[in-house]
Amino acid sequence: MNIIEVNNLTVKYDNVTALDDINIKIKKGEFLGVIGPNGGGKTTLLKSLLGLIKPNIGEVKINDHRPIGYVPQFSNFDRTFPIKVLDVILLGKLEGKIKFLHRFKNTDINKAEEIMHSLGIYKFRNRQISQLSGGQLQKVLIARALIMEPEIMILDEPTASLDANSKTEIYNLLKRLNEDKTIIVVSHDVGVINSYIDTVACLNKKMHYHGDDTKLSKRTLENVYGCPVELIAHGNTPHRVLHVHDEEGEEI
Ligand SMILES: Nc1ncnc2c1ncn2[C@@H]1O[C@H](COP(=O)(O)OP(=O)(O)OP(=O)(O)O)[C@@H](O)[C@H]1O
Ligand SMILES: [Mg+2]
Repeated sequence: MNIIEVNNLTVKYDNVTALDDINIKIKKGEFLGVIGPNGGGKTTLLKSLLGLIKPNIGEVKINDHRPIGYVPQFSNFDRTFPIKVLDVILLGKLEGKIKFLHRFKNTDINKAEEIMHSLGIYKFRNRQISQLSGGQLQKVLIARALIMEPEIMILDEPTASLDANSKTEIYNLLKRLNEDKTIIVVSHDVGVINSYIDTVACLNKKMHYHGDDTKLSKRTLENVYGCPVELIAHGNTPHRVLHVHDEEGEEI
């Protein structure tokens, strides 16, 4: 079953075309990695899936009625805001609408605590978010998205500026969530994400590729990024690696 269908999606900001005739079908339970250069339209695509941006042309169909869990791009988050971890997670319940003097139900607090336990961040529950490391904060933001019990989780560069171990921790966490959720993750860790994802989408204004072929051709990647792409193999354990090969199929 396709949980998401995007048909002929074109999005423009004034006279800048950010997405040009995008078609993509995402299956329930799929773990999709979205790659592409800065300004390639990745965030725009995610916001279109969330209904935050209206298409100029085309449509987005979501075959699920629950709210989508969304972890926005890190840089948009104000880390200096004086708020403690538990409250950030509970705010996920309000879907961004901050209500003054809102009292959360005990069931919400219990749910938040259960999620914090499962993500290994319970010990930070009363800490101010300004006192967390980047990786810890990222887990808090994932917890905030999880509190609505979404079927679909969308994460915009959740591992940006994290070290290699923290990246692995986040991807392992996403893989665990993928046991019962559809996961869409934007990443620049081209080599790393291939150990985790089922399919990859290469986006640079147009959709250059979406499918399960991790043996993407060097030319496809160079077309998407507009420059040679360096691929980094990941870890020592057996995993799927993005092999780069030339057009004749010879690995390089
Ligand atoms: N609110 C906006 N108004 C005008 N132009 C915008 C707006 N948001 C994005 N753009 C433009 O649309 C294009 C796609 O931007 P988008 O943020 O979707 O790219 P991205 O792939 O997420 O990039 P990055 O990897 O840097 O996060 C860029 O050219 C950008 O400048
Ligand atoms: Mg972006």
